[in-house]
Amino acid sequence: DLVRELRGLADVEQRLARRLGLQRVIVVPGDADVDDTSKKEIARATARFLKEVLREGQVLAVTGGSTLAEVALSLPEESVPLGITVVPGRGGLGEDVELQANTIAAEIARRLRANYRLLHVPDDLPEEAVETVASQPQVREILDLIRRADIVLHGVGTAEEMARRRRLGPAETARLRERGAVGEAFGYYFNRQGQPVYQTASFGLRVEDLAHCGQVVVVGGGRSKAEAALAVISTGYQDVLITDEGLAWRVLELT
Ligand code: F6P
Repeated sequence: DLVRELRGLADVEQRLARRLGLQRVIVVPGDADVDDTSKKEIARATARFLKEVLREGQVLAVTGGSTLAEVALSLPEESVPLGITVVPGRGGLGEDVELQANTIAAEIARRLRANYRLLHVPDDLPEEAVETVASQPQVREILDLIRRADIVLHGVGTAEEMARRRRLGPAETARLRERGAVGEAFGYYFNRQGQPVYQTASFGLRVEDLAHCGQVVVVGGGRSKAEAALAVISTGYQDVLITDEGLAWRVLELT
């Protein structure tokens, strides 16, 4: 439309896709750091994208966060089931319930009239217990669905904000800083080069699983998230970025 044309968004999208080696980039007007309507625009663009790409029989894995919560709210309520299955990317990651992947997966499934399977894992399980839970047949079955998802839709955050939101202690926060963590996605903290340097004790999607998933889509905007998004995309697993001008211009400056 006219706004896109006036702002040269198609050109920004193409430059970003080339620079980051992505299949597709969608940029909406504005900057989510300074104005909430950009987050809503990102969510609307993501909802349209999902409707365009999802096919019957496919598995959609989603993570949590406020951007993904907004995506769920942007989806129209379907009258005919789409025949897909929605799963959360990871178990509990220490987020408030309305921002949890389970909650968002269930809401997306309700709107798309899809099937869903959830992962109920307490956030503070010791590692041995995580392993025991993950090896149960009912849980394994869901993990298998997650690890071969046709579409993975995940949020991205700065390491700093996510450490705060998950109430990491001072020692863990210091460790993150020491290891150069700048970005976070699905429970992993990444350094500038896209190497995972720390991870939240939980289970579900592992970084290496992304190689076996179909399309990996990262969603998030705001200039403040540019370095975080770059770190996550440097893993080389992402195919699509849906973002706003604030993040897009900053990434072009940084690369
Ligand atoms: O905790 C789930 C999660 O998707 C994180 O992996 C990500 O960093 C964050 O939420 C993004 O949250 P928001 O969209 O609120 O910035």
